[in-house]
Amino acid sequence: MKVAIVYSFEAKKTSQVAKHITEAWGKDITVLDADKISGKDLHDYDVLIIGAATWFDGELPGYWDEMVPELEQENFPGKKVAIYGLGNQKEYPENFCDAIGIMADLFSTLGSTVVGATSTEGYTFEASAGVKDGQFLGLALDIENQASLTKDRVKKWVAQVKQEIK
Ligand SMILES: Cc1cc2nc3c(=O)[nH]c(=O)nc-3n(C[C@H](O)[C@H](O)[C@H](O)COP(=O)(O)O)c2cc1C
Repeated sequence: MKVAIVYSFEAKKTSQVAKHITEAWGKDITVLDADKISGKDLHDYDVLIIGAATWFDGELPGYWDEMVPELEQENFPGKKVAIYGLGNQKEYPENFCDAIGIMADLFSTLGSTVVGATSTEGYTFEASAGVKDGQFLGLALDIENQASLTKDRVKKWVAQVKQEIK
């Protein structure tokens, strides 16, 4: 099974978390810079771990936003996609980690199965497009307000995703 983690190397906190994820994953994970690849490159992998912070009051960061039209030209049936999102629940309580939902919708539409849903317990926010049926559609992280919880959350999530892709 080929696994890749995809995020922008320019995105500071998303990159920090990617390091935790790759460490927790162990070997056999390819690290891809979203700024350097095209949508077609993602066909080479069975499992994608997508990193996306939320920016601009509930939107994707620029680099994903630019890639979306390209991704929409592709189809990724059978792929498993796990999304980790970064946000700030205190500053943006009405759009906390919306990017998780935007990416989950996108990859679902492209035929992929989104894995790695997590509980909203332990977070305080009002609304999030990343939540469906009471769960985040991926892993929500808040480095600004809950930095100390990040490593543990990542560890647990990686173990969960590994189970779900078996
Ligand atoms: C201009 C700006 C807008 C933001 N908008 C949101 C938002 O709508 N929702 C949210 O949860 N976080 C929001 N954030 C918080 C970022 O997602 C958070 O700081 C994240 O850790 C940034 O990750 P990065 O350094 O990898 O880009 C915003 C931050 C900035 C600076």
